[in-house]
Amino acid sequence: MKILVTGSGGREHALCWKLSQSKIVEEVICAPGNGGIKDVARCVNVDAADIDGQLELAKKEGVGLVVVGPEVPLVAGLADKLEDAGIPVFGPSAKAAQLEGSKSYSKEFMERHNIPTAKFSSHTDIDEALEELEKRAGACVVKADGLAAGKGVILCDTKEEARAAVKSILSENSFGSAGARVVIEDFLKGEEASILAICDGTDFITLIAAQDHKAAFEGDTGPNTGGMGAYAPAPVVTPRLREKIIETVIKRTVEGMAKDGNPFKGVLYAGLMIDGDEINVLEYNVRFGDPECQPLLSLMKNDLAEVLLAAADNRLKDVNIEWKDGAALCVVLVAGGYPSDYKKGEKISGLDKAGSIENVVVFHAGTTEKDGDIVTSGGRVLGVTGLGDTLAKAAENAYKACDEISWNGMRLRRDIGHRAL
Ligand code: AMP
Ligand code: GLY
Repeated sequence: MKILVTGSGGREHALCWKLSQSKIVEEVICAPGNGGIKDVARCVNVDAADIDGQLELAKKEGVGLVVVGPEVPLVAGLADKLEDAGIPVFGPSAKAAQLEGSKSYSKEFMERHNIPTAKFSSHTDIDEALEELEKRAGACVVKADGLAAGKGVILCDTKEEARAAVKSILSENSFGSAGARVVIEDFLKGEEASILAICDGTDFITLIAAQDHKAAFEGDTGPNTGGMGAYAPAPVVTPRLREKIIETVIKRTVEGMAKDGNPFKGVLYAGLMIDGDEINVLEYNVRFGDPECQPLLSLMKNDLAEVLLAAADNRLKDVNIEWKDGAALCVVLVAGGYPSDYKKGEKISGLDKAGSIENVVVFHAGTTEKDGDIVTSGGRVLGVTGLGDTLAKAAENAYKACDEISWNGMRLRRDIGHRAL
């Protein structure tokens, strides 16, 4: 069969790479794809957010499955349109995607279904929001309700910072319509980890735990980014914690969504704060994490197309996911200046040499081909992923490959995986 993957980042490169190895896939098509994806899939220039364009492409190509990478088309209803057209899709409906699309929806959902999360309140009225801050002591977190590409969360150490955050979201419209409502919540301490589950609406399979590094600079300092690196498995999630997370978070979420009439199909991503034995959900995403997807799929033994097709067809009950031994670690190479302004169009060198190193896969995130060269076209440019018997070996392999690659302004964090190493 043909499979269409929607999107153009490192996550989509990993999806296309893994799907292209499937026994049941005759062709992988990616829309729009990028400069690296074209080596494993046929790229068609339709934007991921162009819902009608994606639907038309799926129909025209007669694909047997659509795998939607990013959240924007999911929240906009791409999965609903494909289902209406009778095309199998791996990804949640617009209503189910509200788990990521609206922080107040997800917080109320968690409250209703007894899923552990920080105490919160939500406001559209600025005076009411400021009044709520007066009742709070010290640190809190202020979040824009809607999708803000990972930037809508402001960690506030003081009341002054919190007031400024509320004002910037509600009255200065710094996040546009995503900030028509704010969520104010308790500041949680601990170590973060991500647990992802593949769901078919009723059943689910929990993947091994991953940890990403959101901060731009070493030692987890600096502004938040989309993710500077990730690795799996993350030892902070011990077998006992994992059972607890499955029981109190994943199972309750999947059952709660079905009970609310919005069965969840696709990847349920729970971003967690872990403090000793205590776990709390920081956020849900409704898709594979980027870059968490890269190490996770590098370690998966299964034929991914069979797994995702089973999820799309509500047949996950009969599926088992098997993992390679060892660990995988992805280092994201970014453009100088990212996550603020950065230059595009820089020629990348050393890709062939890096890609030929054993136990390394170089996933492209923001690249394009220009006059036969691969050049940068985004902030996060490459996801260099190493595998190894141990996490230390995986890191060694990944950094060995990173050292072969260069372009004007390239930057990376040298400490990916530091919490586990
Ligand atoms: P979110 O998009 O909600 O996951 O938030 C982005 C990042 O902000 C998270 O990965 C955490 O590092 C941080 N964060 C979010 N909510 C909280 C919280 N309640 N307490 C502490 N840190 C948080
Ligand atoms: N790496 C975090 C995310 O994909 O949202």
